[in-house]
Amino acid sequence: MEKAYRDGKVRAIGVSNFQSGRFFDFAHYVDVKPMVNQLQCNTLIQQTGIEPLMNDFGTKMMAWGPLGGQGVDGIIKSDLLAGIGAKYGKTASQVALRWLTQRGIVAIPKSTHKERMQQNFDIFDFTLSDDDMAQIATLNQHDTGTINFGDPQFVKYLIENYG
Ligand SMILES: NC(=O)c1ccc[n+]([C@@H]2O[C@H](COP(=O)([O-])OP(=O)(O)OC[C@H]3O[C@@H](n4cnc5c(N)ncnc54)[C@H](OP(=O)(O)O)[C@@H]3O)[C@@H](O)[C@H]2O)c1
Repeated sequence: MEKAYRDGKVRAIGVSNFQSGRFFDFAHYVDVKPMVNQLQCNTLIQQTGIEPLMNDFGTKMMAWGPLGGQGVDGIIKSDLLAGIGAKYGKTASQVALRWLTQRGIVAIPKSTHKERMQQNFDIFDFTLSDDDMAQIATLNQHDTGTINFGDPQFVKYLIENYG
């Protein structure tokens, strides 16, 4: 990836699911520091622990599952997020995405519905207050995510199934 970057074939290179230890080891030794690290991150999985470490290397966080992923209602049906959104004429999902954006995190929500895609883009005309941000911080349940990417059995599964 460094060669492709130096050759001008790609504009940015990065990694995915590199939790703290692996991220630090990797970022310390590579010449071109990863520009993004894509991690499971949302209002229930806030990834606050790794944030300063990534900042040290100038690596942006990119949030996968920013709305909690498929089949998870904890975010899009959150009363707290809906209550905050009501003040701004926004949905719980929009508040969840705005909260990521205000933390400087790139959010990549996925939807198969055009109107939801439009809704997910429509988050740049309001600002959550410090109090809103503090209330949302209390929702954190599993800071580093629900998957342990350092578990050798899981790494074996990834290698065998994804190469
Ligand atoms: N690097 C990794 O390991 C990794 C892992 C997982 C995912 N990803 C990537 O991350 C991106 C998003 O992840 P994800 O799909 O898991 O999570 P997500 O975007 O948090 O959630 C997608 C789910 O939310 C629903 N949704 C989207 N917008 C909504 C809205 N405004 N209101 C209500 N429901 C809404 C979607 O339903 P509908 O489609 O029915 O609208 C879908 O069921 C994808 O590009 C995916 O490829 C990366």
